Amino acid sequence: MMWFNIAKAQSFMPTQGTEIAKQVDNLYGFLLITSFIACVLVIGGMIYFVWKYRRKTPNDKTAYISHNTFLEFLWSFIPLVIFLAVFVWGWYIYHNMRSMPKNALEINVLGKQWAWEVEYKNGYKTVNEVVVPIGQDVKILLTSSDVIHSFFVPSFRIKQDAVPGRYTALWFRAEKLGDFHIFCTEYCGTSHSAMIGKLKVVSREDFDRYLEQGQEERNLPLAKKGEKLFAVKACASCHSVDSPAAKVGPSLFQKFGHEEEMDNGEKIKFDENYIRESILEPNKHIVKGFPKGVMPTFQGQLNENELSALVEYIKELK
Ligand code: CUA
Repeated sequence: MMWFNIAKAQSFMPTQGTEIAKQVDNLYGFLLITSFIACVLVIGGMIYFVWKYRRKTPNDKTAYISHNTFLEFLWSFIPLVIFLAVFVWGWYIYHNMRSMPKNALEINVLGKQWAWEVEYKNGYKTVNEVVVPIGQDVKILLTSSDVIHSFFVPSFRIKQDAVPGRYTALWFRAEKLGDFHIFCTEYCGTSHSAMIGKLKVVSREDFDRYLEQGQEERNLPLAKKGEKLFAVKACASCHSVDSPAAKVGPSLFQKFGHEEEMDNGEKIKFDENYIRESILEPNKHIVKGFPKGVMPTFQGQLNENELSALVEYIKELK
């Protein structure tokens, strides 16, 4: 059914990275073309009849026409067949999309304001980057730690909400090597539009190597671990670390050891305990000039070791 695969034109639609993507494009191509033909028939017929049956003399009389059973049957029956075909076709593709394959490679993805936290089975964590092997069924297990996000890979034509308090899932089998966009397609606050990730499709060998390298990263020094966590937990979307410029929250650059003025006029020393408190109880003290209630608490999301790593990293921002 290649003749209506108009979406083949790369500039018109994103690359087709999966078999499902081709199926979806075929269905949309069919819908587009049948709609176009129907539109031409209806509008064209209308214009033609307006011209053909226009008033030619001042006392033209319209002939008495009651109905035409054959015509009425046709214009009811043909669309019915088309609609039913589209329904069955769409159901078939949707059923494929929603039936999770057995023995799929599972990857956990957590949506949060405003990043995608990715965790593989061996415990390796990354942010905004999902790496998968080509030609293998991959199941993405989604959830969210705050509001509803939506995981969308345009090139794969798949999309699924990430909902706080429950798991949702989607699957795909990548057929093309390369980098593909991941977008958040559910408005989730200030930096929703910046919640962009990358889905990398690599060879089986590269994928295994990638996971191994992830294992090695577990033995990093504390500050390096903190730097990694800072990225994974998306702290950087609100706090700058290399300049005093404020983002959504105050900058952390060269703050350690100095005093910080709070919105109630109180001055607090920026030390280890202040960093710890700001992570676990971010609304206890608000830095002057910043709104209350913006930062979510990380209570229960970080263990002591991870907290120390973050403190160590923030300490060394000089
Ligand atoms: Cu997350 Cu929009």
